[in-house]
Amino acid sequence: MQRLEVLSRQLTAACATTDRTPLLATKEIYDSMYRKSIEDPEGFWGELALGYHWQEKFPARGHMQYNVDLRRGNVDVQFFRGGTTNISYNALDRWVAAGRGDEPCILWEGNDESERRTVIYRQVLDDVCRLSNWMSSRGVKKGDSVTIYLPMVPELPIAMLACARIGAMHSVVFAGFSADSLAQRIVDCKGKMVLTASGVMRGTKPVLLKTIVDDAVKLAAKQGQPTTSVLCLEVATALRASVTPWNPSIDIWWHDAIPKQSTVFPPTWLDAEDRSFLLYTSGSTGKPKGVVHSVGGYMVGVGESCRYLYDMRPGDIVFSTADCGWITGHSYLAYGPLLCGCTIVMLGGIPTHPDGGRCWRMVERYKVRQFYTAPTLLRSLLQLGDAWPRKSDLTSLRVLASAGEPMNEHAWHWFHEMIGNARCPVVDTWWQTETGMGMLIPLPCPWFDAKPGAAGVPFFGVQPVILDATTGSELPATGAVEGVLVLKGVWPSMARTLYGDHERWEQVYFAPYKGYYFTGDGCRRDEDGHYWITGRVDDVINVSGHRIGTAEVESALTEHADCAEAAVIGVDHALKGQAIYAFVTLRGMEHQTDAMRKILNDHVRKVIGPFAVPDTIHWAPALPKTRSGKIMRRVLRKIASGQEKELGDVSTLAEPGVVEMLIKLRGK
Ligand code: WTA
Repeated sequence: MQRLEVLSRQLTAACATTDRTPLLATKEIYDSMYRKSIEDPEGFWGELALGYHWQEKFPARGHMQYNVDLRRGNVDVQFFRGGTTNISYNALDRWVAAGRGDEPCILWEGNDESERRTVIYRQVLDDVCRLSNWMSSRGVKKGDSVTIYLPMVPELPIAMLACARIGAMHSVVFAGFSADSLAQRIVDCKGKMVLTASGVMRGTKPVLLKTIVDDAVKLAAKQGQPTTSVLCLEVATALRASVTPWNPSIDIWWHDAIPKQSTVFPPTWLDAEDRSFLLYTSGSTGKPKGVVHSVGGYMVGVGESCRYLYDMRPGDIVFSTADCGWITGHSYLAYGPLLCGCTIVMLGGIPTHPDGGRCWRMVERYKVRQFYTAPTLLRSLLQLGDAWPRKSDLTSLRVLASAGEPMNEHAWHWFHEMIGNARCPVVDTWWQTETGMGMLIPLPCPWFDAKPGAAGVPFFGVQPVILDATTGSELPATGAVEGVLVLKGVWPSMARTLYGDHERWEQVYFAPYKGYYFTGDGCRRDEDGHYWITGRVDDVINVSGHRIGTAEVESALTEHADCAEAAVIGVDHALKGQAIYAFVTLRGMEHQTDAMRKILNDHVRKVIGPFAVPDTIHWAPALPKTRSGKIMRRVLRKIASGQEKELGDVSTLAEPGVVEMLIKLRGK
């Protein structure tokens, strides 16, 4: 163990002190690579893909095929056809085979700062194989779905990689979702196995995950999806005061089943176009969408984006505050850094616990080179004051990355100056669960003139197009324009379908503007060709970097017997970016009380999870609707933000008196 610590220290010190030239050292290199990625995507990605292990090589030509234009038939995207590979092999075996098995793979800290684990590459590979063996002995095979409902412990990326090794699709459900949401996801992906933990401490609060899983398993069974195995990891701290409920017919303790498994599990060689995992995300209608990614395209897109966009190289120490329950945790905490041979730093608790210095102490402790976070956390950390980062030595940092929501200028400057000492590029990346990898990006290169708040320029293969929001026609390709962001062409890590619903995949993303992928985001491009995301143009809101469909919250509210109707909108919020604001019509006006607000909030917490609870419930004896019955959300947004003077044209309202009534009820 001691030898390892010395090794790890030597390695981190070496990384932090050597400065190096980014891969895109000059604008000319970026321009010529970008041009090639558009003119000859097959040749371009084919060459980059050679940096990975392929058991069977794909042909240099003819490996790529696609159609994204519904007028020409179904949407179908294929990269590296004919090649076989395995992501877990590329993320682990490759490095162990290169003699790096004793280097740290995961550096973990729990909720309690004194709880620490170092897991070396060889150990991770052994644990992955053990888990693959156990899952496979329980019948899990290529193409099956496995639900993972784990807190941020090393076993979470290990579980993802074990599924990848078998060729089973993991569906990681953020361990903040309720039993109802978890059940809905288990049923949708037809999963028979759940990997979970007894519980977890979040700050000072224990969360009993196993109890939530038990409820979800019962609900899923009622809906026709029985669970045959629940593997449960014992997380001691959360259990001190409680007993984990147990169902011996399906429950198995991790520590009973896994250690005795063999550490040999040959990777299943998968076709590049086999499915790697699914991840649920919110849409503008109630039901979450199971976004499905490929094996080869996802691997190459994510791995290469780590190299070019975040300058990740073997031995780098990468700290991402993302949770593996979201796409950032998949691409830039787990898969991407390991595909680049980096060491990942994982935090198992709340990043502001026990105080505002936690993240910065971790940066110092592990000599973190790349720090990846989200604007919402930056805004919280910034509020806690400059004294915290000043207490830690942050000189190891080289790249500061962020994604998930627009970054305000104030947060950008604080990140750049206070955290990066004006030395490190701020890489504010725009991308989505569906794009798999970073798409618009301020390049982390000295020649790139990043603008605070802008999402920069396109990564390889990305062809952003801005359409006129009303006519849907393309706006000029140069000069300043503003409209709806769509993407032309294809890139390797784009999702391939929605689980079990290819038609919905086509309708949501490729039907709105024929021939393009519709992002759901508004965007402007400035004179210098930098892109600025202006926010969602659909009924999705972004709360603390989490995508939440307004329809999901509305349906949770209206499920309650006392709620007749609900309309949910997003309003600006200083810390969260956006907050959930719900207009609610009750079945009886006499119930418009704070007690009823609590009942409804508890109901949303139960149906979706704590992060979807409305910040505000505004009583609405009626909602503003058009004569055809459509709720006028534009009007609601103005009322919620106190801008009733700017209501605009309300002549199409069926009952104009509703507006006055709602204004009177604001804050009541
Ligand atoms: C928003 C998160 C502004 C956007 C990686 C997108 C951003 C949605 C940025 C995807 C950014 C993501 N600037 N907005 N840098 N990055 N978004 O699927 O609205 O959880 O459509 O993926 O987040 O959210 P998702």
